[in-house]
Amino acid sequence: MPAPPIDARSQNARVLGVELCGDDGALLRIMPLEPVGLLRAGRFFMLRRVDGTGPYIPRPFSVYRQYDDGSIEFLIKVMGPGTRSLAQSSTGTELVCVGPLGNGFPELEAGTPKVMVAGGIGSAPFYLLIQQALAGRHGASLAPEDLTLIYGGRKAGFLYDLEAFMDLGVRVLAATDDGSAGFHGNVLDCLHKQWEVGNLPQTVHLLTCGPEPMMEAVAHEAAAKNLECWVSLETYMGCGVGICNGCSLATRPDGPLGAWPVAKACVDGPVFSTSAIEF
Ligand SMILES: Cc1cc2nc3c(=O)[nH]c(=O)nc-3n(C[C@H](O)[C@H](O)[C@H](O)COP(=O)(O)OP(=O)(O)OC[C@H]3O[C@@H](n4cnc5c(N)ncnc54)[C@H](O)[C@@H]3O)c2cc1C
Ligand code: FES
Repeated sequence: MPAPPIDARSQNARVLGVELCGDDGALLRIMPLEPVGLLRAGRFFMLRRVDGTGPYIPRPFSVYRQYDDGSIEFLIKVMGPGTRSLAQSSTGTELVCVGPLGNGFPELEAGTPKVMVAGGIGSAPFYLLIQQALAGRHGASLAPEDLTLIYGGRKAGFLYDLEAFMDLGVRVLAATDDGSAGFHGNVLDCLHKQWEVGNLPQTVHLLTCGPEPMMEAVAHEAAAKNLECWVSLETYMGCGVGICNGCSLATRPDGPLGAWPVAKACVDGPVFSTSAIEF
């Protein structure tokens, strides 16, 4: 049975600050009481407030940024009581913080351009991924022109912290369903357009995070074009450490996870090759 990562622990953390972001999001910066090591992009923490505001079961969030002083930042979209209570924290609020959990994205190889396809808050793991790829802290050191982020949302206000992504110096293409920012259409249409006009080579590696139908569409695109593709799943999670089975998903019998029919997003993922899982 897969176990939680050996560097994971349950501890308390203090909120350093909360900044509103986009129409319904927040940047939450916290300082864990015990330092955590260098975090691979795509790993996550389970967070809840200690004071009983919000649900008792902590909620999972991808690491958005890690700072030299040891603090960690999360990009959070308010969905319900858990996310609302975190977004309404203030400086000094105490949190329970379990992690770091999950596997994170695999090391990126040089050579084939990487295209990250993010839907709304699914952009969260890509900030760190881009930072680490440019610095060579996540496999090979990649050139900015080999990294493209296609960042989609229903409207401009759901493209959280878009300017920060643009400031990273890689190609960032915004896409909105209502045309209020960037390309008028969804991320798949935007990707097709890039291929059509020759702005992207036909062979790329795809990495995606966002709503499940979007990730499924990206996975189908990858299968149709025989492209490598990685998804970071945002399934419901009860425990985050492999006990509750709340995050089970079907595996592909011919895939790299072998014949066992199920995997757990929290301990086997949340990042999977699309050759390993069924949507
Ligand atoms: C590995 C991982 C990383 C994540 N990273 C982030 C992140 O960086 N930022 C972020 O904002 N969120 C992230 N999420 C999603 C986040 O955990 C959920 O939005 C949160 O648990 C919702 O809790 P809540 O109490 O606010 O809402 P709930 O009361 O639990 O739910 C409110 C509404 O949202 C829906 N909902 C809740 N969770 C999900 C989900 N995962 N997918 C689709 N619909 C959902 C429910 O069906 C309900 O309608 C991540 C999830 C996982 C598994
Ligand atoms: S969230 Fe409990 S087993 Fe994965």
